Amino acid sequence: MKDSLEKLRAEFTEAVKTVSNSEALEALRIEFLGRKGKLAEILIGLPELAGDARKEAGILGNEVKRALEAGFADLTETIRKSELSAARDREWIDISRPGTEPGVGHLHPVSQAVQEILGIFSGLGFSRARTPEVEWDYYAFEALNMPKGHVARDEWETFFMADGEKIAEEAKGKIVLTPHTSNSQVREIEKKQFPIRMININKCYRRQSDLRHAPMFHQFEGLLIDKEISIADLRGTLDYFAKAFFGPNRVTRLRPHHFRFTEPSFEIDISCGLCNGTGKLEDGTVCRMCKRGWLELGGAGMVHPNVLKAGGLDPATCSGFAFGWGIERTLMMKSGMNIDDIRILYRNDLRFLKQF
Ligand code: FA5
Repeated sequence: MKDSLEKLRAEFTEAVKTVSNSEALEALRIEFLGRKGKLAEILIGLPELAGDARKEAGILGNEVKRALEAGFADLTETIRKSELSAARDREWIDISRPGTEPGVGHLHPVSQAVQEILGIFSGLGFSRARTPEVEWDYYAFEALNMPKGHVARDEWETFFMADGEKIAEEAKGKIVLTPHTSNSQVREIEKKQFPIRMININKCYRRQSDLRHAPMFHQFEGLLIDKEISIADLRGTLDYFAKAFFGPNRVTRLRPHHFRFTEPSFEIDISCGLCNGTGKLEDGTVCRMCKRGWLELGGAGMVHPNVLKAGGLDPATCSGFAFGWGIERTLMMKSGMNIDDIRILYRNDLRFLKQF
């Protein structure tokens, strides 16, 4: 065994000379010092030796092992240094080179519109209110003069979530995904801070999906309640907004309409930006966006006495107006946007979104 150990030491000394990189070094370590390596293979016969022979072979075995390990450590350091210096020659950083600019994103066009709309209304003294998207049927319908089972509710194509009575003792009807921001009207009146100048921007949900309808969309709701508020105040506010947001060339019109929570009620239209209010495109075809030259922005009207009463106010002493518009539609009507399918706003297509 002593001979084998000495031979191994000599063999290692020779083998070391041929190693020039860390892969070969690791292979050498496994070959000589590994669990099934040459040294382990020799020492496997150690227990079979008798008395002194075993002791001597054991001492020599340890000595050879230490020698191999020391030789291996030296070589590791030498190879590490030479590989490092080769890498330094090969790889270097030109610190004078201009850096790569990180990609900087921007707000989604809908968020941009939200900020712009908020800016316009805060300039008129309106403050932002925030109301739940998951809402009681009471605030979405009942307090708005649409009692349970009333046919007017159908227009809102609502997602009903659960029966509130089964969930909470203080339930106010069923639980819905709010189909409009008008749920904020009675919530705001209940706060009893007068006069009210509220702007509420929120997500709304309806079972609708086509070129002009998305199942999730945003509305902004304005509510103003004070003494002696008239339709002229409503008209002035809407006109101010339309000119500030769309530009001086776009015109608005009020059409008589019916909402259960305003009286009188109107639909507000704005001239179409794609066909410039003519209803026809340059090639003579009917405008695919509006068909008639006008686009519906949303509804408005004077707050219904029953809504004021639901919030605890006396219709004899105060009055107000409310309006609710779709943000995506408002955005689509901005000149230069040319969006002919509302749903593209939510397809996360960067080729589209980067344009804004
Ligand atoms: C309402 O939701 C009323 N709450 C508006 C209102 C408020 C009237 C205050 C009076 C006083 P309407 O269902 O018409 O009304 O919706 C208003 C606007 O929301 C629409 O004109 C449209 O711009 C937008 N809108 C409605 N449904 C969708 C939809 N599925 N996708 C995108 N926008 C929508």
